Amino acid sequence: MSDASVTFFKGRFCSFHEAQVSVRSKAINYGLGCFEGIRAYWNPEAKQLYVFRPREHYERLRQSCRILHLNLPYTVEQLIDLTAEVCRRNHHREDVYVRPLVFNNHETLSPTLTSDPAEFALYTLPLREYLDTSKGVTACVSSWRRLTDNMIPARAKPTAAYLNSALARHEAKANGYDEAIFLTHDGYVSEGSAEHIFLVRHGGLLTPTSQEDNLDGITRRTICELAGDLDLPVTERRVSRTELYVAEEAFLCGTGAEVTPLVEIDRRPLGNGKPGPVTERVKDYYYKVVHGSVPKYAAWTHAVYA
Ligand SMILES: Cc1ncc(COP(=O)(O)O)c(C=O)c1O
Repeated sequence: MSDASVTFFKGRFCSFHEAQVSVRSKAINYGLGCFEGIRAYWNPEAKQLYVFRPREHYERLRQSCRILHLNLPYTVEQLIDLTAEVCRRNHHREDVYVRPLVFNNHETLSPTLTSDPAEFALYTLPLREYLDTSKGVTACVSSWRRLTDNMIPARAKPTAAYLNSALARHEAKANGYDEAIFLTHDGYVSEGSAEHIFLVRHGGLLTPTSQEDNLDGITRRTICELAGDLDLPVTERRVSRTELYVAEEAFLCGTGAEVTPLVEIDRRPLGNGKPGPVTERVKDYYYKVVHGSVPKYAAWTHAVYA
């Protein structure tokens, strides 16, 4: 990442190395903030960069701020415009990850919230794959439980909740897996460390609801909507741990993870231990949609260049 890349911070565009916070910031000391993860896809045929579902991401960011008493000083429209402007100023002609961050940047000692405007930062990073979407990944059920909605709500995408994710991911990696799957406090399937999970059962898609201490996922919602075009029935309900082991196929999904096949869970190969045909169909269709190649979903993609 070049230090010269343009970042938006403290109400102006600056270079990445100028966007600094103090070690006294409450955001660093107590994790008082929330964020979004958005992708923009470069379409070489159209010579266009498409931000995928920015409205939904910024509506979710506003809801997160509401939950966390963070006073976000921008409207959804302004945030969409800012995103496109940072991408343009960075001359991105590649796939990009966009990270808007809202945080309490006060420097007093106590972990308190305030009604002052929160600090807002937005940076971009070129990003291709977050996980191996071609070969797929292995996962384990984590010994760490998902934080509950009454502790630190995953729904609010709070920075602090990613300690829970990091602990689970670290444990998974240390034990030779690529990813971790969280169970809720009640023992039902919640989500991955930064992804949602879908199972293929009896030829249809099965996924936990958005009340399982997970994020209200935009990719998850997208896939539920796209499944109809692929004649795949979707069931949203509580999912038991052992249903993971008897699924025909499974995949993780998310803005970062896109559609990543799960080829093994807790040392039990799924299908023949390779990405399955239903997963591949969903993945291929998802890629077409996010690249702005399916006219029906053009409204989901926001063109950056005129
Ligand atoms: C904990 C968690 N779950 C799921 C997801 C996927 O959500 P979305 O599809 O809205 O990016 C993310 C973020 O990407 C996440 O951080």
